[in-house]
Amino acid sequence: MIDKNLVAAPGTPERALLDQLDLARLPRHVAVIMDGNGRWAKRRHLPRVEGHRAGAAAVRDTVETAARLGLDALTLYAFSTENWKRPKAEVSTLFTLLKEYLGREFRTLAENDIRFRVVGRAEGLDGSVRSALGMALEATAGCHGMVFSVALNYSGRAEIADAARSLAREVAAGRLRPEEIDEAAVARRLYTADLPDPDLLVRTSGEMRVSNFLLWQIAYAEIHVTPVLWPDFRSRHFLEALLDFQRRERRYGGVSEADSQVASAPPAPAVLDA
Ligand code: FPP
Repeated sequence: MIDKNLVAAPGTPERALLDQLDLARLPRHVAVIMDGNGRWAKRRHLPRVEGHRAGAAAVRDTVETAARLGLDALTLYAFSTENWKRPKAEVSTLFTLLKEYLGREFRTLAENDIRFRVVGRAEGLDGSVRSALGMALEATAGCHGMVFSVALNYSGRAEIADAARSLAREVAAGRLRPEEIDEAAVARRLYTADLPDPDLLVRTSGEMRVSNFLLWQIAYAEIHVTPVLWPDFRSRHFLEALLDFQRRERRYGGVSEADSQVASAPPAPAVLDA
């Protein structure tokens, strides 16, 4: 049961948005490409890393809103395999911010029954990052509420390639027949195997790209792009994204309900010329 007062106080603009939402039709899984930290800092004549620091506050707000709305899953794209190309100092600050965030938040996550997890090649991360991640994973392992995933050292294509390799190994070992490889078999070998596919993909800062994020899983996701830069993204913007999602008609390659009724209706009687 959602406590509306916990999501947005009565009389606020956020509450007005929340009141327009159909709480029975929320997406189960929302994925977010957090973008615009650098531009946020540039506009303020600050170093880029200050944008990332401010972005960590937006992470907190978004996790809180998603959990209070009772979503099943929230996945945030924090670091792609391509992000290693950034200046060393920026990469190191990003991971320091992540460690600080986990150190500050892991108890709150556990207290709110939020299960933390990582999607991506965690083995490619520095030891101190892996131990901070391990602590949060352990602290929330018994939680059964929202699954909060952070994509780190993540690449959608690499994830699909890894799944293909794992299938090939099973075939080579005689545990699997090639005919048994279907979409479900691939999906079971992805990082998100036990999660529903994202229904909604949000991207901040106005860029119209999916940037190698959850390529398999977003096949039918609705996409909401907001011009808001990630450090400014707050519950109001999250609620706006959810409202936008509810205005969409999801057809999964079929036709709309109205059109399907037209298609199955008996032909209209011919109109005779008077
Ligand atoms: C994109 O902005 C943002 C990132 C690559 C990193 C996101 C990381 C955080 C918000 C820090 C903490 C993370 C967690 C999970 C606590 P950009 O630098 O590409 O912005 P630009 O396109 O304006 O340059």
